[in-house]
Amino acid sequence: MEEKKTYYVTTPIYYPSDNFHVGHCYTTVIADALARYKKLQGYDVFFLTGSDEHGQKIEDRAKKKGVSPKEFIDPIIDNAKDLWQALDIEYDRFIRTTDEDHVKTVQKVFQKLYDQGDIYKGAYEGWYCTPCESFWTESQLIDGKCPDCGREVKLTKEDAYFFRLSKYQKQLEEYLASHRDLMQPESRYNEMVNNFLKPGLKDLCVSRSSVKWGIPVTFDESQTVYVWIDALTNYISALGYLSEDDSLFRKYWPADLHLVGKEIFRFHTIIWPIMLMALGLPLPKKVYGHGWLTMGGGKISKSKGNYKDPRVFIKDYGVDTIRYFLLSEVPFGSDGNFSELLMIERRNSDLCNVLGNLVNRTISMTNKYFGGSVRRNEKPTELDEEVIALLNGMNEDVSKRMDDLNAPAALKAIFARLERLNKYIDETAPWILAKSEETKPRLNDVLYTILEGVRMCAIQLEAFIPATTKRILDQLGVESGGFDQLSFGLSADFEVTDKPQILFARIDEAELKARLEAEETPKIEHLPNISFDDFSKTEMMVGEILECRKHPKADKLLISQIDFGGEVRQIVSGIAQFYKPEELKGRKVVAVLNLEPRKIRGEESMGMLLCAEDKEGRIEVLQSELPAGSKIR
Ligand code: MSP
Repeated sequence: MEEKKTYYVTTPIYYPSDNFHVGHCYTTVIADALARYKKLQGYDVFFLTGSDEHGQKIEDRAKKKGVSPKEFIDPIIDNAKDLWQALDIEYDRFIRTTDEDHVKTVQKVFQKLYDQGDIYKGAYEGWYCTPCESFWTESQLIDGKCPDCGREVKLTKEDAYFFRLSKYQKQLEEYLASHRDLMQPESRYNEMVNNFLKPGLKDLCVSRSSVKWGIPVTFDESQTVYVWIDALTNYISALGYLSEDDSLFRKYWPADLHLVGKEIFRFHTIIWPIMLMALGLPLPKKVYGHGWLTMGGGKISKSKGNYKDPRVFIKDYGVDTIRYFLLSEVPFGSDGNFSELLMIERRNSDLCNVLGNLVNRTISMTNKYFGGSVRRNEKPTELDEEVIALLNGMNEDVSKRMDDLNAPAALKAIFARLERLNKYIDETAPWILAKSEETKPRLNDVLYTILEGVRMCAIQLEAFIPATTKRILDQLGVESGGFDQLSFGLSADFEVTDKPQILFARIDEAELKARLEAEETPKIEHLPNISFDDFSKTEMMVGEILECRKHPKADKLLISQIDFGGEVRQIVSGIAQFYKPEELKGRKVVAVLNLEPRKIRGEESMGMLLCAEDKEGRIEVLQSELPAGSKIR
């Protein structure tokens, strides 16, 4: 028997995050669609994704929660897997860098590189923040201080191991020049060569003694493997490289495609190939650096608050609305903008108006005119032939675009067919053909042509929107059968469901816009109402600050002598962070006078200054232009 061709595709392994946003889903959804597409083409596919779990940050976050790093990570990984399931991601393995087999392979790789002299002992020098136990590079510092805690850092040296990237520089340059299709899109080739290779590669620090949460270096217990050797090795450890059973490795390596975001392209096209060269292994066939999904002009991120858990969208609109958006909207390789409204506009215009509408009309007409059964079109007209040719050419069109990893263009090629079928309905006007018995045979042929077209398009859509495809084929009463079934006329006849389902209900864009705007407007939490009588019990007055000094025992407090139109009172206020005493002298401020007097850190306070406080906690004293003694009411 002829062996199936293999296809090995990977996503990066993700840092454990509680806040996966739609940007994170981008790489994985595209990889999933490619993997499914290759499977439908008949390839034996292995699709790998996973998580990148070591390092200081994780250790710190776990410590804060009072649990071990592994205890801290486990629920996060369960949550990530739940998200991938909700998105219909069909991976073959989810590798965790804490998996025992991965740890062993990394240790063996490190040892091998050390034994052959490609890893050597040296000293790492960097800016060390003692309380954070972290090293920083000069460029990471903020005003020369620790970017995390803002404290002083010290230039410090520690023993560490280094990987001889420099030794392989020339070999890599030559390899890349003669394998120009390794880096995709092509434009990234020049960027890598000019910005990183030409200036010369420095050896890479690949271990740390200050980071405890990492894979131990077997021959030096004081060290753990640092970042990239651990992370990148996942692509081969997942297949059993250097383990007892390396059959998957022998079957699938080299990878056909590493799909990565542009910010980590460099590691995948310089460090990773050099590691593989040093290990004597073949290099991946392609590394594709995709752009970012942006929101309001910047990369989507939790810190900017511009993210929602993708499961909220899945719940509201179904999984394929988000899959379709990610696969169709962003020009592959460049950045693309995301907003809920844009996603819904795409859903309405393509999924609802073109695809959903076509399927719904077709099933309804088949039921209405033929009780759900239609026979093969034996006498195609010229018009039919034109549509049939277009449908028969679809597979080639789509596969060319998928070979270029261009999912948006592939989807366009499919939707061009769906649109043609909608137009065909208008041209053939089945409702007129249905009026006379004589034209009924033609009506049968027209409906068969549409049904067969819908079937072929659905099979083509399977890799992109698998759940919807299944719902379409179920309604048509046929099985997918993969790309072998893509020639027009393979269905003998159709027996469709008598209950057409709405695939994508229309979402009102104006309503959504209004809802989103309302969500963006901050909500104010009000106190319960009080009566006017209650309010008028408060005595408030304008007063002029005559003197102001710091509280002798409390950094945050100022003590003011304030004239309220003849009566001078002392008031203590917590505003020292925002005002110097001399700044306040002479200002006319507003105070409550009939609060119970009290001693604050030993100083009597006969009232309270009124202040405004903003969201960031900045405080400003309220002022008035009117003379001291004016009443507030
Ligand atoms: N752990 C490393 C990868 C190691 S691979 C050996 C890492 N992890 S990550 O969680 O930060 O990113 C994982 C993937 O998500 C990357 O490909 C990254 O580009 C992608 N994205 C994260 N935010 C994104 C957008 N807003 N848009 C598109 N992709 C983005 O890097």
